[in-house]
This record gives sequence, C-alpha cells and structure tokens, in this order.
Amino acid sequence: MVFNIKAFERRVFKLIGDTAKELGYPAYVVGGYVRDRLLARPSKDMDIVCVGSGIELAQNVAFQLMPRPRVTVYKRFGTAMIKHNGLEIEFVGARQESYRHDSRKPTVEAGTLEDDQNRRDFTINALAVSLNEEDFGTIIDPFNGLQDIEDKIIQTPLEPGKTFSDDPLRMMRGLRFATQLGFTISEETLTAIAYHKSRINIVSQERIAKELNKIIAAPKPSVGLDLMFKTGLMKIVLPEMANLHGVEIRNGIGHKDNFYHTLEVLDNLSKKTDNLWLRWSAILHDIAKPPTKRFNNKQGWTFHGHEALGAKMVPTIFRRLRLPMDHKMKYVQKLVFLHLRPISLTKENITDSAIRRLLFEAGDDIDDLMLLCEADITSKNSKKVKRYLENYHLVRERLKTVEEKDQLRNWQPPITGEIIMETFGISPSREVGTIKMAIREAILDGIIENNFTAAYEYMLSQGKALGLEVVKEKS
Ligand code: CTP
Repeated sequence: MVFNIKAFERRVFKLIGDTAKELGYPAYVVGGYVRDRLLARPSKDMDIVCVGSGIELAQNVAFQLMPRPRVTVYKRFGTAMIKHNGLEIEFVGARQESYRHDSRKPTVEAGTLEDDQNRRDFTINALAVSLNEEDFGTIIDPFNGLQDIEDKIIQTPLEPGKTFSDDPLRMMRGLRFATQLGFTISEETLTAIAYHKSRINIVSQERIAKELNKIIAAPKPSVGLDLMFKTGLMKIVLPEMANLHGVEIRNGIGHKDNFYHTLEVLDNLSKKTDNLWLRWSAILHDIAKPPTKRFNNKQGWTFHGHEALGAKMVPTIFRRLRLPMDHKMKYVQKLVFLHLRPISLTKENITDSAIRRLLFEAGDDIDDLMLLCEADITSKNSKKVKRYLENYHLVRERLKTVEEKDQLRNWQPPITGEIIMETFGISPSREVGTIKMAIREAILDGIIENNFTAAYEYMLSQGKALGLEVVKEKS
C-alpha cells in the first residue's frame, strides 16, 4: 500500500512538522485523511494531532503560509482550523477522551498520541503518519489498521462496547464506511452494534440523518440499509422502512417482501443517478404498503392507495429525521404520489389526455419519475423485465410527442385569475377558481386547444353558465 500524497501536501506536512519541532512537540496527520490517501480516495479534510497545543501550532503554521490563511479557533474544544489550497486543515492536541469534532463535552484532557489513537472509532481511522524530521512519513499503526484496509475490514480498536458508548453514532458510521468503501464489518463489531443499538437514541437526529444520507449516496446503498435492518438500527431510525420487511401468506397466496424489493429498486436507481432525493423517493415509494395491505379472496393481496398515503407519510418522516422540509421534501412527495401513474400509461388505448395530465402534474420531474418507475421493475423473469422496459420506452416516446405538441411542462393555463375577475367584474371568489379549473381541465382533456383565444372563448361560456355578465371585453 502506498501513502499517495501530492507534492504541495508534502510541503505542508514538512512545514507543520518543522513548526511543531520549534514549538517543542511532535505532530502527526491522522484519521480519515490517512485512510483515504491509502485507499487513493479524494479527501479535503486533514486532521493534525500534536502532543501540545493545537491552537498554537495552527497559528504558527498559518503565519508561514502564503497567502496567509485566517485561523478559526474553537477554544472550547481546543482546536483550530485553517484553509489552504483547497484543504481544510484541523489542528488538535492529542486527547484522552472520545474524539468527536462536535462533542458537547468541553473538557478535554491532554494525552499522548497513543491515547488519541485508542479513542478513535475504527482501526482504519486510527492510523497516524509522523510529520517529524526523525521519522517523517512513518505510519504508526497500533491496531493493525493497515492490515484491515488490506482485508477490507471495519472493526473498533478497543472492545466495541467501549468505543460505541463513547459515541453511539459510531454504529451508524461503521455501517456507512462499510457501504461507502465496500468493506465488511467484523463479526464482533457487528454483534456489538446489534447489542448496543438502542444507545443510538441519545444521538441527535441531525447526526444520524447525515450518516443515513451518506449510506444512501453510496454506490450500493442496500448494503448499509440491510445492515441497519439486521442489527436492529432500522427499527429505531426508520421504523416505517423496517415495517416493509416480511411476507404474509394467506390461502397459499403470498406477496413480495417489500423491504428487499425497495432495496432492489434503490440499487437499480443508484446505477442511474446520484440524486440523493430521487434515491429517497425509491426508499419511500412503497412506504405505505404495510398500512394499506388488505387480503381479498378474489384479488389476493392489495395495497390500494399506498401511493397517496405514502405521499402523506413523507413530511412526517422528513420532519422526524430533520431532513429539509422545502422543495426537496415536496419533490420526494410528488414522486411517491405519482409512482404508479406511468404504469397505468402502458395499457392499451391510452388517450393523449392521460399523457398530458401526467406531464402537467410531474412538470420538470417527469424524467426522474420515469427513472424511478424503470428501477421499480424487479422481476426475476428477464423476459418480463424486457417487456416492461419496452412498455416504458413507448410511454417515454408518447410523453415526448405530446410534450412537443403541447409544451405542458411547467405549464400555466393561458387565462389568469385576474383576467377572469376583470372580464366579469368580480372579486376573488369561488367562481374564479371554478372557471380557472374548468379551463385547465378542458385543455388537459383536449376539449379546447392550448392557446389564449380558445381559452378565452371557453372562459366566456363558463362564465355565462354561472350567470356572470361580461363587463370588460378583451383589449
Ligand atoms: N472520529 C471518531 N469518532 C467519531 C467521529 C470521528 O473516532 N464519531 C475520528 C476518526 O478517527 C475519524 C476522524 O475522527 O477518522 C475524523 O472524523 P470525520 O472527519 O468525521 O470522518 P472521516 O473519517 O474523515 O470520514 P468522512 O470525512 O468520510 O466523514
């Protein structure tokens, strides 16, 4: 394994080592940066540990850099940060207590490098590289982290119960690293996660959601989500998703396991997109299947209305996990709500108006919706998969034709509420809404053309039907 660093990083390391020497203590680069350089992965954060004052070292290093960076000092935590050449370099004195950037515990006891390494989450994150003249570049590896990187193993340096009780978020971090890096979690560590799972309750939702999102953003997110399920973390963090698990059989009729189906959809989709929120829509597309599940002697298992109830559940889940409640949530909600619509368009004799309606409702998100629907095909029968994909291909073609003809994406009906009010001399009222909706429906249904003149004439007829009089002709 090679410790792959760029020439300018080497110069920065030399400078840090020499500065620390002048101050009379050693310095090391540690943690994620070392791990990522060994794995030839990009990383922008560099953590420096010195057996002395991190703040003093940062200030002295900054003084010698050109252009001179600002030193951000976090006095409470005894850390300082500088930005240089696209790198974020954080300096800290070696400590004895748990190593957490955002630890609420302000008291930090100074320690040795060994103490500091003991307190880290995983062996692969506990490697240090010396920046000191006498052994510059030497890797200090007390827990065989190098071997674990080689063997692709995630395990804690100390007894896992100790490491996890220092910061229970580390259980999620372990699953996240396994998912991101394609590593396996050692049996002892995994068993400990299952054992200590309920301690995750003391961690803030924000921190949990950050790790969860990193799992979801990984190349094959099912790895981490399945581990969350198997360790029991899923039941605590995202119980609605854990509820998807299992198959019920009645009169010899079963249904698919919606948890594993959802994971498959998510992995399928993740091959096509990095869009985190589109991935979230895969996670939540069938979320209301458990509460809408019914058994009926004629049809077997049904999940009627799961798309509508699922859409209702989205804000509740987002709020609880402290995910953004803005347009991102609305986007996920919309995709969950619409996820069955394209399949209904694969039937025969579909009118242009059904296509137009979907274009109108999905707007710019129509392509993402089609990606979700294509990923939703998880049949093991390759002939079926091929047929379904061909059907969606035809839907895409028709969407394109209707879109070119009618331009319905982000469409606004040609008659506004103001025009209706002016024409009939009325103030904002139910009539205005009724007429507006009638015009919209007539255009979507293809009863009138999508232009101002046709819509204006239609508005006059609708107004008349409501007993309204025209007080102002169009100018
Ligand atoms: N660390 C830890 N326990 C935590 C968080 C961090 O022991 N709960 C230690 C690990 O040694 C880790 C280092 O602090 O490598 C830096 O933490 P952080 O920047 O959060 O993570 P990285 O390992 O750098 O990984 P990433 O940037 O992917 O989050």
